[in-house]
Amino acid sequence: QIRAVLFDLDGVVVFTDKYHYLGWKKLADEKGWAFDEEVNHGCRGVPRLASLQVILDHNKVDLPQDEKERLADIKNEYYKELLKQINEDDIYPGVVPFLEKLKEEGVRMAICSSSKNAMPVLDALGLAKYFDAVITGNDIENPKPDPEIFLKGAAAVNMHPFHCLVFEDAESGVDAAHAAHMKCIGVGEPQRLPNAHECVTDYAQIDIQALLDAGRVKTI
Ligand code: G6P
Ligand code: MG
Repeated sequence: QIRAVLFDLDGVVVFTDKYHYLGWKKLADEKGWAFDEEVNHGCRGVPRLASLQVILDHNKVDLPQDEKERLADIKNEYYKELLKQINEDDIYPGVVPFLEKLKEEGVRMAICSSSKNAMPVLDALGLAKYFDAVITGNDIENPKPDPEIFLKGAAAVNMHPFHCLVFEDAESGVDAAHAAHMKCIGVGEPQRLPNAHECVTDYAQIDIQALLDAGRVKTI
């Protein structure tokens, strides 16, 4: 039985994955590096510097560490600039009613995001109030697919991992949830998240009772 739901943020609760993409795209274009949605998929759930490394590897580019840090900072400035425009349209459709229903059922909820910008995003959209805990990239040492972030989320809402369910749009996040021995629902197309047991693209379709009873979004 599911008694706590742990949500990734970017690409799961809000469409900020689009802005992470646009931030990296701007940097890549300036540098003349190839970067597209496919390469970006490998950056989902991946911390800032490691995301840059994904792009550098794709382009077979090698840079000194201080230059990597400088470029990652530049991408973060681009991202923060894009965040200035976020509004309710950036909230994943159906997610707010879904959070409200879970709250009514007494389900504990946490955000478990690798992003160091997670808190300002939640605040800007008035979403922080739904969550009993928020664990971000500032709170962890080992990024997804390490289970640390989800284990910290479970501990923060005082729940055993067995009773926790994760929503994730990143392969690294799905693997992290499984490493934490939690069930995981993929957000997005199933072919992009082969390790997720099930995927959703619309929160309104979820049968809350089936979800809480069995950790499933579809009945077999
Ligand atoms: C999330 C996003 C990634 C991003 C990472 C770090 O996991 O999915 O695209 O690279 O957070 O975000 P930050 O805001 O700290 O650069
Ligand atoms: Mg994500």
